[in-house]
Amino acid sequence: MGLALAAGEVAPTIAAPARRRVPFGGAIQAEHFDVDPEYRKAFLTYCDLIMPMNELKFDLLRPSPDVFSFEPADRIVDFALSHGKGSRGHCFLWWGGTPDWVKAITDPKRLEAVLIEHIETVADHYAGRLTSWDVVNEVIANDPPQEGALRDTHWLRVLGPRHIPLAFLTAAKADPKARLVINDYDLEYVGPRCDARRATMLAMVRQLKDAGVPVHAVGMQGHLYADLQIDHDAIAAFGAALKAIDVGLIVSELDIIDWHIEGGPAEQDAAAGKAVNALLDAVFAGQQPEAVIAWGLTDRYSWVGGAMPRPDGTPVRPLPLDEHYRRKAWFGPLLDRLKHGR
Ligand code: XIL
Repeated sequence: MGLALAAGEVAPTIAAPARRRVPFGGAIQAEHFDVDPEYRKAFLTYCDLIMPMNELKFDLLRPSPDVFSFEPADRIVDFALSHGKGSRGHCFLWWGGTPDWVKAITDPKRLEAVLIEHIETVADHYAGRLTSWDVVNEVIANDPPQEGALRDTHWLRVLGPRHIPLAFLTAAKADPKARLVINDYDLEYVGPRCDARRATMLAMVRQLKDAGVPVHAVGMQGHLYADLQIDHDAIAAFGAALKAIDVGLIVSELDIIDWHIEGGPAEQDAAAGKAVNALLDAVFAGQQPEAVIAWGLTDRYSWVGGAMPRPDGTPVRPLPLDEHYRRKAWFGPLLDRLKHGR
C-alpha cells in the first residue's frame, strides 16, 4: 500500500523541478528502497517517473507457476503514484528473467498459454497505474550478422518469432491504454554490430506495425560504454525513421560503464558527461524522447560494478549521484536539457 515518508524522513530539500518537457525517471530496487530513506528521498527529489528495476521480471514475480508476487513492485508503484510521479513496467519477457519452471516447458501450446496468462494477469493488475511496458526485452541477437536476427531464447526455441507479436497483442488486449515498448541494448555506437542491431530493430518494428501489431516505442537502454563512440548520425537517422512511422523513443536504462576510463574519478565523470551528452544530442536530433530513465540513481547501488568492474579495482561511477548522493557535474545539465526538451 502507499508508503508515506517513514518516521524521521524529511521531505526533499531541493524544490521539485518545474515540469520537464521530457520526464526524467529512475529505476529503483526494492531491497534498498526498504531500508535506505535517503535513497527514496533522492528518487522523489529528482525523478518524474519511478519504476521497479527488477521486481516485475518474470522470475521474481512468478517464482512458481501459481504465485504472482506483486507485493514488492506494488510498494514501489504505490510510492511513485502517491507522490505524483509516473511509473512504468519492466518487463514481461526477457531471456535473463526466465524462471526454470518456464524453461522446463517445451510444449508450444503449454508455453503459449503461460505467456498469455502471465501478460494478461500482470498487465491487468497494473492497468491504469503503469502507463507503459517493456513488452519484450533484448530479443535481438547480440551480433545479428553472426547469429541471425533474434537472440536464442527459450521463448524463441519453443514458440518461434511469433512469440513477439503474441506478447504485444496480448498486452494490448489486457491494457489497451498502455504504451507498448520494445527494449534493447547496444543500439548506440559506431560499428557494424550496432549498425546491424539498429537495422534489425527498425525492420522488426516496421514488420510488426505492418502486421497491425501495436508497438508504440523503442527503448534504447543507454548502458553507455564511456570508451566507445556514440554514432550520432545513425542514432539520429534511427530516431527519425521511427518517428516517420509514429514510433517513439525512450532512453530506458541510462548508466555509464567506465571500466576502461583511466585517471580517476574526475576523468570517469568527465567521460560519463561526454557520453551522456553525445547520446542525448543524437537522440534529440532524431526525435524528442518520451523519457530518459536512469538505471538507478546513485553509485551506492548499481549493477555496473558487479557486471563490469574496473580492472584497477576502484569504484565505478555509473550514475548521476555519487555514493554520498552528491550530484555529478553532468546531472544538472541533463535535467536542464530535459526541462527544455532539446
Ligand atoms: C539488471 C539489474 O540492474 C540488476 O539489479 C539485476 O541483478 C540484473 O538485471 N538490461 C536490462 C536490465 O534490461 O533488466 C538489467 O538489469 C541490466 C541490463
